[in-house]
Amino acid sequence: MKTKLPLSQGLLHFPGYFDRTEQQSLVAAVRDVVAQAPLYIPVMPGTGKPMSVRMTNCGPLGWVTDKERGYRYQPDHPVTGKPWPAIPPMLLDLWREVSGYAKDPQACLVNFYSDDAKMGLHQDRDETDFNAPVVSVSLGNSCLFRIGGLERKDRTSSLKLESGDVFVLGGAGRLCFHGVDRIYPDTSTLLKNGGRINLTLRRVNP
Ligand code: SIN
Ligand code: FE2
Repeated sequence: MKTKLPLSQGLLHFPGYFDRTEQQSLVAAVRDVVAQAPLYIPVMPGTGKPMSVRMTNCGPLGWVTDKERGYRYQPDHPVTGKPWPAIPPMLLDLWREVSGYAKDPQACLVNFYSDDAKMGLHQDRDETDFNAPVVSVSLGNSCLFRIGGLERKDRTSSLKLESGDVFVLGGAGRLCFHGVDRIYPDTSTLLKNGGRINLTLRRVNP
């Protein structure tokens, strides 16, 4: 723990929030989630173009996307039809410590990046409650994270997110555009087969 670096209004970076042992516990918890709710390849609304990350969720709601119905939250896995598994207690503790929001998160999106995956610049705006932040955890290989302003055309800046880091988009920064430009291979030994896991906790409804 747990220095907090306020980047600008509502954007917080906690480098090395989780130590190595805690990171290993989180990976074990994620494996458990994936065993119950397998990773799948999401596709973009309209075009049906596959994303380069694989996804699953835990919590009462999960974020999903498909060609026909687009971005949304739903209580069940789009492939298995089963309810999402529970959010691991360590992640609930994290939320309670850093979110500044009274209620617990309803969704935890699990993104798995292979070393050649990336995520385009976007806003997280499929929630109905923007008073709650988005709390994000990085595990495994480092990435180049890009963060901008409230409009797509705004100037962006980049920082590296490393294994164990926590990033919070809240307050005036809740709707900032953000994305992942690249993964740096061989920058962590946490995940046996490389890649990066990102976990994002969200409150969906007030
Ligand atoms: C996301 O915006 O959903 C993922 C961000 C990240 O992988 O750090
Ligand atoms: Fe996002």
